[in-house]
Amino acid sequence: MAPLQPLVTVNLGVRSYPVYIGNGIIFETGRLARDVGLRGQAAIITDETVDQFYGSALRESISQAGFKASLHRVPAGERSKSFAVLETLTESLARAAVDRQAFVVALGGGVIGDLAGLVAAIYRRGLPYIQVPTTVMAQVDSAVGGKTAINLAAGKNLVGSFHQPRLVVTDTSTPKTLGVREWNEGFAEIIKYGIICDPSLFEQLERSTPPLAELVKRCVEIKAGFVERDEQERSGERALLNFGHTVGHGLEAAAGYGTLLHGEAVSLGMRAAALISMRRAGLQTAEATRIQRLLERYSLPTRLTLNLPPSRILEKILSDKKFIGGKIRFVVIPRLGAAQVTDEVGKEDLEWAIASLAE
Ligand code: NAD
Ligand code: GLY
Repeated sequence: MAPLQPLVTVNLGVRSYPVYIGNGIIFETGRLARDVGLRGQAAIITDETVDQFYGSALRESISQAGFKASLHRVPAGERSKSFAVLETLTESLARAAVDRQAFVVALGGGVIGDLAGLVAAIYRRGLPYIQVPTTVMAQVDSAVGGKTAINLAAGKNLVGSFHQPRLVVTDTSTPKTLGVREWNEGFAEIIKYGIICDPSLFEQLERSTPPLAELVKRCVEIKAGFVERDEQERSGERALLNFGHTVGHGLEAAAGYGTLLHGEAVSLGMRAAALISMRRAGLQTAEATRIQRLLERYSLPTRLTLNLPPSRILEKILSDKKFIGGKIRFVVIPRLGAAQVTDEVGKEDLEWAIASLAE
């Protein structure tokens, strides 16, 4: 068979890796893993829902490429990003005699990518891994960039590491089996890219929805650029990708993980960040309104209907890792297509924005 060409390469020197994007390419996963030099056995980590849809296709591809494989399943949903599931999973790998020559395959959405990536980062002091994302959210965002994490009661993604995958295999036919809520939530991150750096993408989404493969390629190219310029979020550039996430993560933790989907929480967080940007960065009201309308076009929430005490949301925001030396690093937008980090956003701005979401 003819070699496939990667559609995007994440250029990080010795940690560079290809991102393949296409319909039906889940069946090529095994040979692509061989092509990037992976050897040894494959430890496939997935959730129970994704396994039912795509587990056999993935296993077939892995075994046809001559790999032995073991399967490790966790319950579907955000609650699996926990120490308890991390422990169960690593014990399961040990029982299956997964050794230092092995590699991990993360088959699923962002939860599986973050969790399996962390397993790969720490099991036997680190194994290579590959991402096979199956949600819109994971395909346009989380499968690329090497952030791995689990949640704590104190806050989202508070335990994790940077561990880049060796390969990303994005089959754009797999999200077709997502529920409507899960499909729509992925658009929160796509809209985010439009807001922070790609106004033409934002305008395109206002008119109509391009095919998923086109959106995935565009978003992965944008994300790869941020990751290449600031791999470990040190210079402030990669932090711009957190637009809407400070309030979003606070809402996820305050509501109880899994109550709001990640993209839904980010949607609310982006509306809050747009309101704060009007106060602190000169964003025009008309542009904040366009953001709200676009989110609503994708059935994403812009009003907080959950009965959550604002003080609880604020408490979770304040324990978020985006605080450095007691100061919040908040991403604001002076206009559509431009973003910057500021330390001028105070507690009272957050209180006001949270109250505005509930109105
Ligand atoms: P998810 O992985 O929980 O998937 C959502 C639901 O869809 C789950 O119930 C899952 O079983 C199901 N599912 C997955 N693929 C399916 C398919 N093809 N067909 C039918 N059902 C399917 O959630 P998600 O929204 O993909 O990811 C959210 C997580 O990603 C959050 O924990 C967030 O913090 C993380 N994230 C990480 C990064 C990063 O850079 N590492 C970026 C963005 C988000
Ligand atoms: N999702 C934000 C990042 O990858 O940096």
